[in-house]
Amino acid sequence: MRILAIETSCDETAVALLECTGGLDDARFAVLGNSLDSQAAKHAEFGGVYPTLAKREHQQNLAPLIAGVLRQAGMAKEPGSAAPAEALANIRDDAFKKSVETFLAAHAKPDIDLIAVTHGPGLEPALWTGINFAEALAKTWGLPLFGIDHMEGHLIGALLSSVPKGADGVDPYVLKPFAFPLLALLISGGHTELILMKEWFSYERIGATKDDALGEAFDKVARLLSLPYPGGPHIAASAARSRARGGTAITFPRPMVNDATCDFSFSGLKTAVLYKLREMEEISEEDKEAIAQAFEDAARDTVVSKTLRAIDLTHPHALVLGGGVSANAEIRHAIETRVQERHPDVSVLLPEWELTGDNGIMIGAAAYLRYLSGKESDMELQALGSLVLE
Ligand code: KG4
Ligand code: ZN
Repeated sequence: MRILAIETSCDETAVALLECTGGLDDARFAVLGNSLDSQAAKHAEFGGVYPTLAKREHQQNLAPLIAGVLRQAGMAKEPGSAAPAEALANIRDDAFKKSVETFLAAHAKPDIDLIAVTHGPGLEPALWTGINFAEALAKTWGLPLFGIDHMEGHLIGALLSSVPKGADGVDPYVLKPFAFPLLALLISGGHTELILMKEWFSYERIGATKDDALGEAFDKVARLLSLPYPGGPHIAASAARSRARGGTAITFPRPMVNDATCDFSFSGLKTAVLYKLREMEEISEEDKEAIAQAFEDAARDTVVSKTLRAIDLTHPHALVLGGGVSANAEIRHAIETRVQERHPDVSVLLPEWELTGDNGIMIGAAAYLRYLSGKESDMELQALGSLVLE
């Protein structure tokens, strides 16, 4: 089964074309095409994602990205055909409608079987662009359409491991070996949650943030330290320089670690950083690095502590880490070692580096596994900004 997947929930426009084979136990995903356009630099001056700009960027990026992915896959065929009115009926923006129409007029139906698109959670104006384009393709080409939860995408993406190129010369991913129940710590720019996956696509939320997401806290603290957006990688690099110098005596509170829930709170930690900065008179580069380290230490210890608590509560066979913040080396290392120490019987599944941030591959893979699980196409998707896994 060949799947074209589209992701536009935040500030990355991502498209992938996967050839999926095998069943739920031995699924294999060959990446025939994969492309991504990050708008992060454009949002940097706003210090965070600016929804109207994200929407406009997705609207401009989608047609060229999809065309590029079809070319990579050797599936770009001219000419296309006129889109039926019904396929474009939900597109309100004229320029965007024109770009979808022009794309369809220039591209004949490729040899694919399904279209997958992120339908939430995320910024609704951004989600709508992906949904509108996906719906136009599915309706014009007569293909089923699957709406995928972005956080499910991160979870499934973290279950993929790349294996050496197959005889067909394309990069395949396979599912890592694991058994249910599986506990997922999902840490991204918009979400921070502990989710129990009891079997394929059956979820229970064990804990979640009460305020800021972890990635958001990294981004806000980066801003306080005058580091560029997105802040996560910059905080990590600063913190590493502080550790290389022997570390710091500065400590910040580990929020909510002593309460009995698996919930998180990161806004107090950000405020603690703010107060610390106000208290210091002159702030050198080394001071900033020390603060970055103290923040990262506190964030790391908090997620480790809550994850261990959730494991005690739910007794999973595997712990999987996903979301953009799972690129953080300190957090990856601590989760792996601390979970292994306390629960040697729980396998720890860390995402491949290139699948930590938003991408189309995770959305396509989730769609294939949903299809295998008997889930059905939905041709009338809505953008669901606050969609939750359940
Ligand atoms: O999953 P993602 O790419 O987009 C959302 O779904 O939100 O996550 C983006 C978040 C940003 O907040 C970014 O600062 C954070 O992931 N991030 C990191 C690192 N790399 C990305 N946070 C900490 N350390 C990193 N190395
Ligand atoms: Zn994400």
